[in-house]
Amino acid sequence: MEKYVIRGGKKLSGEVVISGAKNAVVAILAASILSDEPCVIENIPNISDVTIILQILAEMGANVRMVNKTTVEIDPTTLKNVPVPYEKAKLMRASSYFLGTLLGRFCEAHVSMPGGCNLGDRPIDQHLKCFAALGASYTIEGGMVNLTAERLVGNQIFFDKNSVGATINAIMAASKADGLTIIENAAKEPHVVDLANFLNSMGADILGAGTDVIKIRGVKRLHGTTYCVIPDQIEAGTFMAVAAATKSDILIKNVIPKHLEPITRKLVKIGVKVEQFDDAVRVVGGDDYVGTTVKTQPHPGFPTDMQPQMAAVLTCAKGASMVTESIFDNRFRYVDELRRMGANISVEGRVAVIEGVDRLKGAPVKATDLRAGAALIVAALGAEGTTEIYDIFHVERGYENMELKLRGLGADICKVDEPDPAEAEKPLRKAL
Ligand code: EPU
Repeated sequence: MEKYVIRGGKKLSGEVVISGAKNAVVAILAASILSDEPCVIENIPNISDVTIILQILAEMGANVRMVNKTTVEIDPTTLKNVPVPYEKAKLMRASSYFLGTLLGRFCEAHVSMPGGCNLGDRPIDQHLKCFAALGASYTIEGGMVNLTAERLVGNQIFFDKNSVGATINAIMAASKADGLTIIENAAKEPHVVDLANFLNSMGADILGAGTDVIKIRGVKRLHGTTYCVIPDQIEAGTFMAVAAATKSDILIKNVIPKHLEPITRKLVKIGVKVEQFDDAVRVVGGDDYVGTTVKTQPHPGFPTDMQPQMAAVLTCAKGASMVTESIFDNRFRYVDELRRMGANISVEGRVAVIEGVDRLKGAPVKATDLRAGAALIVAALGAEGTTEIYDIFHVERGYENMELKLRGLGADICKVDEPDPAEAEKPLRKAL
């Protein structure tokens, strides 16, 4: 059982290079099977979500070859329509993308209901609605989602709920449908645009990604491509929060500053200095921050995936802050952990009220999901004393070499492997 041990309170400095975007790459890797030829995908982060998607592709018969540490070649010509089983699908939300891509390729898909971070209710009704609109029928049996269609036919799809995953699935399946699909109330996140750019580079005809209305004219075949994934908006935002919490001066390289604007605006509002360059931002933390209000919204609003890290920064801002989560039902599971470190936070439904304290103090805490883990790292680096963060496998799903990157900035963080107490107890129980 691995944990991070962080001795906080150190000022950090220097440069950090941001990796490829998790939420773009998982969609792009799944979409590669829509091609009739090999695809080369660059700027792949070394995170466990990517490993799982590559394993699923290999198990389906695709030829997966790492060209170098950050580039993979996927040859899907030998792909078979193999079901995506529970053991893999339960590990990540993005397993649902195989519904759209297998349907686009074989007019049939069998994928176990997707897992992912526990953030409250995460239905797939909008995904199913779009597949039905394109002519597929579906059943859910024994936890498997089964889709079949004679052929896919373009249609008008209006999403009742703004959904990243459903928009991506609709784009992928509609790219191979006959005729025109128009998606209204589409998600506008940078990874939706990146996925559309990837498919267009393979010969798809997708217009309007990044706006509310996306038009897709289906094509018969998609060809191979070489494509470079965008940098990770949330990894960059997390390092911005690290600079703020540790009052440090950090240059964050390989970013798209436009994608960071909602985060930049909030940090500047509380008193952090942010300087923008072409593909980098310099973040300079200050001594006194003022509390503020944060409300998560679909892009270009404040991203829900940065809500816990921003809350960690606000725990030490002067006065009260109000953080409203409007995307997920239950994205405050990290609050109990921050309380262990001395944060003063109360939660009522989807609103957290944070009364700033002078300083957090190190404590043993547990990552309850990916961004919760990131928030605890931010808090621990700014806190006095030692914090031990357990269940860091959540963090490793989405952050490449987190502790190495932080150590490069001068942070006192190490990863320690210690025996699981439950395992250690087993022989004891047997002996009793
Ligand atoms: N929703 C429905 N029905 C659906 C789909 C979604 O009601 O069929 C609801 C959800 O319950 C939620 C809202 O719509 O309340 C938005 O969910 P969305 O579908 O946009 O989220 P997702 O596709 O499951 C992706 C990211 C998440 C990120 C959200 C929101 C991936 C693999 N995951 O999830 O990333 O929080 O969009 O931006 O892209 C993370 O990286 O830590 C993470 C959780």
